[in-house]
Amino acid sequence: MIKEQVALITGGASGIGAGIAKRFARAGARIALCDIDEETGRATAQAIGEKARFYKFDISSEEEVDNIIKKIVEEFQTIDILVNNAGITNDKLLIRMTPDDWRRVLDVNLTGTFLVTRAVARIMLKKHYGRIINIASVIGLIGNAGQANYAASKAGVIAFTKSCAKEFARRNVLVNAIAPGFIKTRMTDKLPEEIQSNYLKLVPLNRFGTPEDVANLALFLASDQASYITGQVITVDGGMVM
Ligand SMILES: NC(=O)c1ccc[n+]([C@@H]2O[C@H](COP(=O)([O-])OP(=O)(O)OC[C@H]3O[C@@H](n4cnc5c(N)ncnc54)[C@H](O)[C@@H]3O)[C@@H](O)[C@H]2O)c1
Repeated sequence: MIKEQVALITGGASGIGAGIAKRFARAGARIALCDIDEETGRATAQAIGEKARFYKFDISSEEEVDNIIKKIVEEFQTIDILVNNAGITNDKLLIRMTPDDWRRVLDVNLTGTFLVTRAVARIMLKKHYGRIINIASVIGLIGNAGQANYAASKAGVIAFTKSCAKEFARRNVLVNAIAPGFIKTRMTDKLPEEIQSNYLKLVPLNRFGTPEDVANLALFLASDQASYITGQVITVDGGMVM
């Protein structure tokens, strides 16, 4: 399947990214685990073992992205799979949202996804093979009060996914997005109890998702079994959006 392939995973230190890194390593892939959080990132890479190496960079910095991805390619020789997973929230009602609150979320979630994809696509297009999996969100499909910046960034990721899928298809580089619902991670743990229980009422399967739920779909999309699927947005949300 993805044995011996090289997967670059952004935001791989914790949560969904760490879940994907562990799942891919179990399937035999070699992992370039990237994150801005060095301490947690190194610990996660160490827990995975010799298949994983940690690289620190901020996906919103063009210079850092280009330099570190060059280094990753030197060390691993190639990149077969890219998972654009790093992302942040900064929730506020719109009338209280400052331009900085808006910009930082867009810079990381959308511009960061563009910068990393551009650097990695150069390698994939040359070798006529690649799988790109962008972690969007159901919020990018349905919107959410208090998350105008986040929703716009994730809707942007979805449109970006479809455009790249069209642009790269002739070179056998497939691009898909996963839209998770409510997944238990550092990002959602910081939400107040009341908001968490309100979310749960919207989930027909009546439980929160786990990073493994998302990782299983990411593994499928990275595998040979998904070789005729591109430009899609697939929700992993316990039935929240249907
Ligand atoms: N948890 C959910 O319910 C949920 C739902 C839908 C989508 N998502 C998306 O899943 C992705 C992963 O989120 P998570 O829930 O695992 O949260 P998380 O906070 O556990 O993981 C995000 C990771 O991204 C890293 N990161 C943040 N900014 C970065 C930057 N500028 N450069 C490099 N790394 C950076 C963080 O250090 C962290 O390790 C995000 O894109 C998020 O928007 C999460």
